[in-house]
Amino acid sequence: MSGKDDRQQFLADVISGLQSTPRSVPCKYLYDARGSALFDAICRTEDYYVTRADLALHDRHLPEICDRIGPQAHIIEFGSGSGLKTRRLLERLQQPRAYTPIEISAAALEASINDLQADLPHIEIQPVQADYTNDIPDRHFQLVPPAKRRVVYFPGSTIGNFDHAEAIAFLQRMRHIAGDSGAVLIGVDLLKPESTLLHAYDDAEGITSEFNRNLLIRMQRELDARVDIDAFRHEARFNRKLSRVEMHLVATRRTNIEIDGQRFEFAPGESIHTENSYKYTIDGFRTLASEANLQSLQVWTDPEELFSMHWLGAI
Ligand code: AVJ
Repeated sequence: MSGKDDRQQFLADVISGLQSTPRSVPCKYLYDARGSALFDAICRTEDYYVTRADLALHDRHLPEICDRIGPQAHIIEFGSGSGLKTRRLLERLQQPRAYTPIEISAAALEASINDLQADLPHIEIQPVQADYTNDIPDRHFQLVPPAKRRVVYFPGSTIGNFDHAEAIAFLQRMRHIAGDSGAVLIGVDLLKPESTLLHAYDDAEGITSEFNRNLLIRMQRELDARVDIDAFRHEARFNRKLSRVEMHLVATRRTNIEIDGQRFEFAPGESIHTENSYKYTIDGFRTLASEANLQSLQVWTDPEELFSMHWLGAI
């Protein structure tokens, strides 16, 4: 897609999101270069326990996870080698057949491959530049000679961004790529007390707030929107009924956003919903996976039981 099409899509999504009730903008627009750098900074804060717990889990269970994967596996990662975890996994695996990162951004894909290949020269890397929320033709994953099994790897709890219907569709797509003899290895953040969740999504250093407000900066810069950024504040809310943390941009006073000739009025307290992070119990996620014809065969957690990794096989 060209830059112009990207802009048109962003514009169309923002306008339709601001026209709907409640107002929302798809969370993918939080992750431009600055947003991704801010997300990395969030991962280093004291309050965002998710990354620490995910790494602790990998530290604790990596040998067992690698045993489960077995030799000659083709690791297919949704997203481009989130660095440390993928590297550790690939280093530890017994004779990995190949590694395929799937990533929409060509630049991010190339950067991650270069780093990985330098450190792991013996691993065959077969990248796929694609949007992993769409179907990807199987020929992209075929190897000669074939791998013993495919393992679709999705660490980091990004599954939490999807609502239930989307998550099921997404898991079905993973199952399809893994095939009947393959497996899915997926990170899932666990439900925990509300105060821990709210601190994680509204860190004391204010980085999550910057991350959220970056959306308004993008609208201003890329869509020529007229928006008073200081009239919006970041808010994290826990929606207990839906078991998710929500990020909102809340108007602190009467204000409006003008974009492409349209004017959207905000009364104080009105918000734009910008992201969801669903939180699961282990059983809750098992049930969800079963709706995608995947069976949770093993679950690992970090010592504090903040985070989980599910090993799912086709039913
Ligand atoms: C990248 C989706 C895993 O939901 O925890 C972190 C994104 N947003 N803080 C998450 C995020 C605000 C993160 N994921």
